[in-house]
Amino acid sequence: MENIRRTKVVDVLKRTDFGALVNVKGWVRTRRGSKKVSFIALNDGSIIHNVQIVVDLESFDENLLKDITTGACLSVNGVLTESVGSGQAVEIQAREIEVLGIADNTYPLQKKGHSMEFLREVAHLRMRTNTFGAVMRIRHNMAIAIHTYFHEHGFFYFNSPIITASDCEGAGEMFQVTTQNLYDLKKDDDGKIKYDDDFFGKMTSLTVSGQLEGETAATALGAIYTFGPTFRAENSNTPRHLAEFWMVEPEVAFIDLNDLMDLEEDFIKYCVKWALDNCMDDLQFLNNMIDKTLIERLQGVLKEDFIRLPYTEGIRILEEAVKNGHKFEFPVSWGTDLASEHERYLVEHHFKRPVIMIDYPKEIKAFYMKINEDGKTVQGTDVLFPSIGEIIGGSVREENYDKLKHEIDTRGIPMKDMWWYLDTRRYGSCPHGGFGLGFERLILFVTGMANIRDVIPYPRTPGNANF
Ligand code: 4AD
Ligand code: MG
Repeated sequence: MENIRRTKVVDVLKRTDFGALVNVKGWVRTRRGSKKVSFIALNDGSIIHNVQIVVDLESFDENLLKDITTGACLSVNGVLTESVGSGQAVEIQAREIEVLGIADNTYPLQKKGHSMEFLREVAHLRMRTNTFGAVMRIRHNMAIAIHTYFHEHGFFYFNSPIITASDCEGAGEMFQVTTQNLYDLKKDDDGKIKYDDDFFGKMTSLTVSGQLEGETAATALGAIYTFGPTFRAENSNTPRHLAEFWMVEPEVAFIDLNDLMDLEEDFIKYCVKWALDNCMDDLQFLNNMIDKTLIERLQGVLKEDFIRLPYTEGIRILEEAVKNGHKFEFPVSWGTDLASEHERYLVEHHFKRPVIMIDYPKEIKAFYMKINEDGKTVQGTDVLFPSIGEIIGGSVREENYDKLKHEIDTRGIPMKDMWWYLDTRRYGSCPHGGFGLGFERLILFVTGMANIRDVIPYPRTPGNANF
């Protein structure tokens, strides 16, 4: 086969030098046609669209042609031609075809319209479908948007450790990391596991958040963000929870609650706008196939100011709804944590736009949140989104050493893990705050996908760590 430099499909579709000899490589999506001519839709992942290859069957060997089936990988040399019928401006009249890899009739993606559940079972192949190709390209774009936003705003990318000895959220939902022989655990006289011989000489786990280390960096560099994998062993089998997810955690010195809310809102809008500016082909596909209101909803978010709502006021609205006959599964009263049905009522039903809820009761939030003057509420911020619920959780941090120490003590958090964190409040303490954005929840919102398992390549959930 003649050696011609490969052109990606995304680029070949833009070319207008008709008559040129081009080479494309990719995977066969469909093959149709007559006894005389075949039309092959070839996709290489560079763009959602396929390029049509027109094959005059009489010019090719039968043995080669029988290998051109759905899923096979081809290299095609051909003449770039203006197209009338392919849905694209160009097509390629094949001159030479090489089958780089056959796909026999056991290839699982034979027909269109597989269920999401089935596709999860073939997660190693599902990225070759239009839907998952689109999701993956958008996921990449959102990562670039995040880095670009923070870089443009003077934040430094900071790498917090994955293995840690402290439980940031204090929820005890951590995966342990050990090199001990689990069949032969050494225990002391009280039956407690001895960690002295373990790799780190102490009990360690996978991190649930990079925030605590992020705070040490923010109180040195001024403004940082982390962006990395996060692990939670919470047994939540919902369409919004993963055991391994990616979190973006900016942390900023010298900001107050209003600055923090401004940052949260500005940041999310920037990401959504980035998707609209850079991913329109993929968004249009998802808008047609997955969620007919997707693009409208994304554009809507950019136009609206987010509602800023104190928790106490939120509870009043929910209690009012109950009085007026609205039925919730879980009860609401001041002091309870909101269930997702409550969050969604406020966002989708009452305000019909994103809500930043603030000033939560101290008891339902983490130990590090700044305590308000009332002594009862803290400066936590949850950003609540339509159909997603909580997309961001953040807060102004308690910078007062004594108050923070008091919370650590009364909540029974072991000091041996926390001395370094408290040092930030002993040496040049400063007002500061930050938040965590669940990366997959952002992708859920931007793609319109319904289940978080379908916006990460290989989801980890209770009972599932395949691939
Ligand atoms: O609200 P969370 O627990 O906050 C923190 O971890 C803070 N340390 C963040 C900070 O202030 N630096 O988690 C933050 C976000 C949530 O709003 C949610 O979007 C996402 O992380 N998240 C999950 N996403 C997927 N699966 C899970 N199991 C998640 N748990 C939290
Ligand atoms: Mg939260």
